[in-house]
Amino acid sequence: MNVELGKVGNLKGEIVLPPDKSISHRAVMFASLAKGKSLVKNFLRAEDPLSTMQAFRNLGITIQEAESGNVLVTGKGLHGLSEPFDVINCGNSGTTARLISGVLAGNPFFSVLTGDDSLKQRPMSRVVLPLREMGADISGRAGGKYLPLSLNGKPLKATDHSLPVASAQVKSCLILAGLYADGTTSVTEPYKSRDHTERMLAAMGAGIGVHGLTVSIAGGPHLNALDMSVPSDFSSAAFFMAAALIVPGSEVLIKSVGINPTRTGLLEVLGEMGAAVELKNRQDVSGEPVADIYCRYEGNLRAVKVGKEKIPSIIDEFPVLCVLATQAEGITEIRGAEELRVKESDRIKAMASELKKLGVELEEYPDGIAIQGRTEPKGCDVESYGDHRIAMSMAIAALVAGGKTTIHNASCVDISFPGFFETLRALHR
Ligand code: S3P
Repeated sequence: MNVELGKVGNLKGEIVLPPDKSISHRAVMFASLAKGKSLVKNFLRAEDPLSTMQAFRNLGITIQEAESGNVLVTGKGLHGLSEPFDVINCGNSGTTARLISGVLAGNPFFSVLTGDDSLKQRPMSRVVLPLREMGADISGRAGGKYLPLSLNGKPLKATDHSLPVASAQVKSCLILAGLYADGTTSVTEPYKSRDHTERMLAAMGAGIGVHGLTVSIAGGPHLNALDMSVPSDFSSAAFFMAAALIVPGSEVLIKSVGINPTRTGLLEVLGEMGAAVELKNRQDVSGEPVADIYCRYEGNLRAVKVGKEKIPSIIDEFPVLCVLATQAEGITEIRGAEELRVKESDRIKAMASELKKLGVELEEYPDGIAIQGRTEPKGCDVESYGDHRIAMSMAIAALVAGGKTTIHNASCVDISFPGFFETLRALHR
C-alpha cells in the first residue's frame, strides 16, 4: 500500500491511541506462564503482539479474545507449556523472538523459532550466547547468530550476566530463563532499559529484585494470575506529539498514555528543545504510570545534542526525533545510537536516506546523525523499508513538506499501529 500525504493546516483534537506494544507482549506471555486465568484489558491487536499470542497458542495455552479488545489467558504455570507441533513464526517481532527464547530454553521439549525477512537478519547471538552460559542447548543459522533457532529445552544454571548493550529484550529473555534456573540469576545493564518485565513479574509474585542497574530473579516460584489494563503506547504517541509540535496552529491532547520513565526520554529531549508539552491527570494503571499528554505548536524548537546515555529511553523515538530536528533551529546531533542499525531496519541509514530525498541537510555517522534544522522539506516518493516507525515518521515529515509525499510500503504501520493514517487524517479534518 502506498499512502499520499501533503502539507496540512493544523491538527486539533483529543485522541486515544492504541495500547502499548511492549506491555501487551508481556501480558500475554507472562499470563501464559502463570497459574489460572488472567484478564488483559486493552490488549494491542497489532501484528507484533498477535505473533506472541499465536506463539503461546502453539505452546498449548488457551487465549480467548473478546470483541471489547480484552483477552482472557488461561495459564498453566511455568511448566505447563507443551511441545509445539510446528515451527513458531515470530513475524517481524524481535520482542517475541528474544523473550520467548528465554522461556523455551528452560522447557523440556524441542522447538524452532523463525521470523520474517527483517527478523531473520537481526542479531540473536545477544540472547543465544548468555543462554548457552546458563546451559541452554540452542542451535541456529550461522552458529546461532540468526533465526531460525532450534532449542532443546532443559533445566538451566543460575548465572550472573553483564550485558554489553542496554536491551530490554535481552534483559527480559534472561530474566525469563532465570525462572527456570536452579538459583538466583542476575542481569546487569550499562544503562537502564524499559522495565515493564520487572514491574509485571513483581506484581505476579516472582522473586524479582532491582538494585540500580542489576535485576535479580529467583528460579522456581510460580507466577500468580493477574488482571491488568494496558495503557496507550508512548512510542505511538510520540508521532502525534511531534506532529502537533511542528504543524503551525496545532493543539493536541493524547489521553491515557504510559509514561514509564524508562520509556519517556523524548519528554526530556523535548523540554531541552523548548517544546510546549504538559502532562495532565497522572495516575497509576496496573503498576505503570499513565498521563494525558498535551502538545501545542509554538514554532520555537531549538536543536539539541543527544548522547549515548539517553538512547535506551528514546530507542524507538529516534526516527521521529530526526523529523523534529528538521524543524528545530540549529544542528541536532544524536550519537551513541548504533543499536538503531539493528532494529526492524537500519534506522540511521533509512532516516538519513529518506530525509535527504526530502531535501534535508544532514550527516550520517556510524553511531548516529546530525541534522540541519529549519528546512522546509520538499514532498517526494519515500520508502518505509517495511519498518513501521520509518513509515510513520515519514508521514509526520510529509505534514510540513511542500507538495505531495508518497510513502511506499506503508501498510507496515499495522505492526504496531493499525489505523495510524485514519487517526492522523481525523485530526486535520
Ligand atoms: C522492546 C525493547 C526495545 C525496543 C522494542 C521493544 C521490548 O528493544 O526497541 O521496540 O518490548 O522489550 P531493545 O530492548 O532490544 O533495545
